[in-house]
Amino acid sequence: NYQGIIFDLDGVICHTDRYHFLAWKQIADQLGINFDDRINDRMRGVSRMDSLEILLEEYHGEPLTAAQKVALAEKKNQLYVGLLQNMGEADLSEEVRKTMDTLRSRGRKLAIGSSSKNTKLILKRLGLTGYFDAVSDGTNITRSKPDPEVFLCAAQYLGLCPGKCLVVEDAKAGILAAKAGGFDSAGLGEAAAFAFVTYPLQSFSDLLKLDGNR
Ligand code: BG6
Ligand code: MG
Ligand code: MG
Repeated sequence: NYQGIIFDLDGVICHTDRYHFLAWKQIADQLGINFDDRINDRMRGVSRMDSLEILLEEYHGEPLTAAQKVALAEKKNQLYVGLLQNMGEADLSEEVRKTMDTLRSRGRKLAIGSSSKNTKLILKRLGLTGYFDAVSDGTNITRSKPDPEVFLCAAQYLGLCPGKCLVVEDAKAGILAAKAGGFDSAGLGEAAAFAFVTYPLQSFSDLLKLDGNR
């Protein structure tokens, strides 16, 4: 069995995609850019600044300076953090909570591996402060997924090598990051259909079957 399980946050433990969408939509409207779910999906697992670059692929106005880009990313984050105030403990599903509790009772170490700099705020809103054995997020890395840095740090914080950990992801960038770091991966949602995923999952609680069979 895997000794450690490293969970992506957005799209795996909780569903913040709508809030990311709404915040980026306001920036897009300000710049006269078309923004839709297809573009939002490409931002999954990708850092804030890299997400902005994806948004700007559709921008045809005056070239933006580096400082203007930073200001746009900061504005998006203010909007996003405002929307996160709508989130509470009720946004953590029973299924996710029970599955993680069961994995823990079986002796697995649990960690977060997320590109988000808002990870600690989101965990607080969900009532999960202090729940994980380790938290590796956008504040302790210099390269975002698909680079494996965030997962390698999580494994290191757990005191485990990548071969003893399973990464749980919903995004292509995250599955690629897991593979690059030498981790097996479990894919949820669109990631379940991705070629590099070790175990496609139908639902979060499938982790219990996977864990039990190994
Ligand atoms: C990831 C999300 O978890 O965090 C991405 O999937 C997001 O959509 C990234 O861009 C960075 O988030 P934040 O909170 O640091 O802006
Ligand atoms: Mg995700
Ligand atoms: Mg993520």
